[in-house]
Amino acid sequence: MSLRIAVSKGDGIGPEVIPEAQKILEHFLTDADFFEVELGLAKWEKTGSACSAEDIRELKGADAILFGAVTTPPDPNYRSVLLQIRHELDLYANLRPIQTLFSSDQGSPVDMMIVRENTEGLYSGIEEIGEGRSTTLRVVTKAGSRRIAEKACSLVLERNPDHPLVIGYKGNVLKSDLLFRDTCKEVAESYGIQTKAVFIDALCLDVLQHPKNYDVIITTNMFGDILSDVCGYLTGGLGMLSSANIGDTHTFFEPVHGSAPDIAGKGTANPVAAIRSAAMMLEYFGMKDEAHLVEESIQSVIRSGFLTPDLGGSASTAEFGSRVYESLSKK
Ligand code: IPM
Ligand code: MG
Repeated sequence: MSLRIAVSKGDGIGPEVIPEAQKILEHFLTDADFFEVELGLAKWEKTGSACSAEDIRELKGADAILFGAVTTPPDPNYRSVLLQIRHELDLYANLRPIQTLFSSDQGSPVDMMIVRENTEGLYSGIEEIGEGRSTTLRVVTKAGSRRIAEKACSLVLERNPDHPLVIGYKGNVLKSDLLFRDTCKEVAESYGIQTKAVFIDALCLDVLQHPKNYDVIITTNMFGDILSDVCGYLTGGLGMLSSANIGDTHTFFEPVHGSAPDIAGKGTANPVAAIRSAAMMLEYFGMKDEAHLVEESIQSVIRSGFLTPDLGGSASTAEFGSRVYESLSKK
């Protein structure tokens, strides 16, 4: 049976970058059935719902989802589509590779993986909003920590078993993080993997100063959100970072960047993050060589000096995407 891929372009620059990523998927997944699911703020304005129960059903029916970005207004009555999908599809592992494609001002190449717990922590959704006091419950469970630790450990074994698994946490202040740290250690020990627990604030600086000391980093939900943006500095910015949200039965691939309303509609957004997310999907389907080809093609276009404005050039989203596609077709 052919693969069914759901595509949601979303808001802002999403509809600009996603077609460039879809083109790459269509090149390799020639038999796949691509179908669109409209989600996000624009849909909410039109229909009063940013992601309906029917949308969730459609997403659940897909073998994988390619997602652009959605605008989330800081409105207490608006539920983040992304968080809704992560929860309803139980996409508990957010894998965020930090890999340089070219040598930037920051020096030599970097290659690490952030494993972000994606369903608990400060993103539990358990909140009480009041006039004089508002609270958000930070939830850490043994089962939730265990399953993300298992994912991180399998990545350590795949990538570099001699490298310790770094645990980003803040157990000196947040006692809930001691459960996270200890569970990660316990799981790692059962895999024969060394661990190093580092306070997240110190980690945010050290990862920039000594990126070569890191390979797989595991952390809780919000720390992973922040750490991945911090690490964007090492790769040339958020335009370069892709991610995979993985659960036991569903998968969802998206750029780490948001909908960037400030540059939306100009056709200048960098499509690399979206294209790399497509490459992560190929890898997930076991097409490692094809994923590698995509990475090489992006790299050769960037090395030739053809760059979007965020990297100092003047190429448009579509021009850059076409160059990558041409380079790929020649390989
Ligand atoms: C991310 C984003 C999301 C998050 C937002 C848009 C809900 O910042 O994927 O990094 O906080 O997880
Ligand atoms: Mg973020």
